[in-house]
Amino acid sequence: MKDKHGPKGSAAQSRFLASLSTFAQEHKAHHWEGTFAEFLSDIVPQNPALLARNSHQYIWDMLRWSRQRQIETGVEGGLFAHELFGIDAALERVTNYFKAASAGSEVGRRLLLLLGPPSGGKSTLVILIKRGLEEYSHTDEGAMYAIKGSPVHESPLNLIPHTLRAEFRETYGVEIIGEPSPYCQARLEHEFDGDFMKMPVERIFISEAGRVGVGTYAPHDPTTADIADMIGSVDLSKVSEFGDEGDPRAWSWSGAVYAASRGLLEMIEILKVKREFLYLLLTLTQEKNIKVSRFPLIYLDETILAHTNLAEFRKFLQEIENEALLDRMVIVQVPYTLSYKQEARIYRKLISAAPTFRDVHLDPHALKVAAVFAVLSRLQKSEREGLDATKKVNLYAGEDVEGFSLSEVDRIHTEAPEGLSGVSPRFVVNALSNAITHSEVQSLTSMEVLLTLKDAIESDARIDARQKRAWVDFLVLVRKDFYNRWVKEDVHKALFASFEDEAQSLLEKYLDEVEAMLDKRQIEDPITGEPREPDERFLRSVEEKIKVSDAGKLSFRQEVVRKAMVAFKRGERFTLHSHARLQDAIEQYLFEERRDVLRLVTSVTRPDEEAKQKIAAVEERLVQEYGYDSYSAREALNYVTTLLSQE
Ligand SMILES: Nc1ncnc2c1ncn2[C@@H]1O[C@H](COP(=O)(O)OP(=O)(O)O)[C@@H](O)[C@H]1O
Ligand SMILES: [Mg+2]
Repeated sequence: MKDKHGPKGSAAQSRFLASLSTFAQEHKAHHWEGTFAEFLSDIVPQNPALLARNSHQYIWDMLRWSRQRQIETGVEGGLFAHELFGIDAALERVTNYFKAASAGSEVGRRLLLLLGPPSGGKSTLVILIKRGLEEYSHTDEGAMYAIKGSPVHESPLNLIPHTLRAEFRETYGVEIIGEPSPYCQARLEHEFDGDFMKMPVERIFISEAGRVGVGTYAPHDPTTADIADMIGSVDLSKVSEFGDEGDPRAWSWSGAVYAASRGLLEMIEILKVKREFLYLLLTLTQEKNIKVSRFPLIYLDETILAHTNLAEFRKFLQEIENEALLDRMVIVQVPYTLSYKQEARIYRKLISAAPTFRDVHLDPHALKVAAVFAVLSRLQKSEREGLDATKKVNLYAGEDVEGFSLSEVDRIHTEAPEGLSGVSPRFVVNALSNAITHSEVQSLTSMEVLLTLKDAIESDARIDARQKRAWVDFLVLVRKDFYNRWVKEDVHKALFASFEDEAQSLLEKYLDEVEAMLDKRQIEDPITGEPREPDERFLRSVEEKIKVSDAGKLSFRQEVVRKAMVAFKRGERFTLHSHARLQDAIEQYLFEERRDVLRLVTSVTRPDEEAKQKIAAVEERLVQEYGYDSYSAREALNYVTTLLSQE
């Protein structure tokens, strides 16, 4: 992570200022304001269908626009792809909801409920939609117009009287559904004498902060939460101005449902709200209106996106009265990802946003070990023969597992619900942050991560003893089945960096010795220049690696020579790849030679110069090519040496 996230230079700052002012200018350029008459003559004919979109259609178009724009800039995946990892199935269901609703399906009359474990990305998903809407509303295709000053930024088309709507449809080919709000009706009468052609219209831009097209409701305390938070109340300061409590202009239109009109209403922890709220929301999605005491029904077009966690949902299911409500929701489960690779990306994203991590080096497996641990905690035991947790983790990450094919993964997924409980990304990232604050070397190794997680589990009062034991066992499994393999591979590869050359010369030496031995001739020693007998001990030490017996050695050697001859006649070089068994033997021979070097690291208190140099070279290679820093490289070497001494 080092150096990547420091303050940017002044060039970057001026670039940012330039983008800001371009943004501001575009915003101004896009601005439009006029009377309804001007709107009808100047704006509507351009593309009436775009102006008549309902909130579901608008969101669906935004999702498609976002995907298209990414394709144009060379990246793929759509709105969520760069922020949400490993939950593609859930994202696809959400996308499909908008697609179906936008096409007029019944699902558009049902509330979309995201259901999942804590810190599983539900809020992030909603945030991305909100940001997407804000951006989209600044584009030409996303241009949205409203009656100016309306607290529900309603579509100006709602002003067209019902008697003229059929004619409008024939002229422009689109249907108008909405009704003007009581507020605008009152203004129309009092300020414009009913002449709706004079009503002011403006282009609006969706903005959560500005409470335009995005509303958010979070229950603070469900017992004191008042429905007025949602639908408003009489604004006493205005009653004297308008002379009547029943005047819609004396109503405070500050509720979340009004802010969300034309766009998105986010309901956080929806099942914590009173049932009274729920009925209101369900009617709103189904009928597109709400009843506020003194006014006729208020037409509102908005998409409700709610979320809740599983505990709340189970409680909700237990109340029989809720059954009917359930029918009026589309429930999309948002489980944790089960791919450790995707999970590691989440950590990477979260820590790259955190200043604590700015100057900290992580060894190349540090996030992966944490991710495997998290995924293990989310799995269910499989009924299948031979499918243990380790294999599942590998399969779910798209890796080959003997005895199981990747095409079975979908079916295995459906056998038991997984990813609905277990360790959350938050838990892991908090533990990592903790470890870093206590670290003195600005470097975190995989082993330290495992220890940190162990501490985090053991000191967490919310976790019961049985769960703690199970989770600690997962850490042991991560180390045994994943980390050991990864770190050994790195060290081996670093040891073998010049492997190809060395292996080839070893192969040639083997061939020379074998030919001399078969021909019963002597070999000239390269150093002394003197003739000597073929080195039978060397030949055997290579052959024993692949269990060539004393009795079988002659035929093995003859076969090697025959293959070498064939290659020679074809004008090819005899290489390691020409003979699979010999390749195996030579690799093992080389490895054992190197392993002895590794053993030196710990076994000899004062390694000699040559050993020191060899070790330094391996360390260097780990740093240069495999993502270690010198601290973690040394740790890895020591660790692998210890592993080898236990083998
Ligand atoms: N699948 C995921 N991909 C990327 N980030 C994720 C994922 N799941 C959770 N996160 C991150 O973890 C943090 C908590 O997620 P959040 O959206 O608040 O979850 P929820 O609302 O479900 O509790 C956020 O920063 C979020 O970006
Ligand atoms: Mg949340």
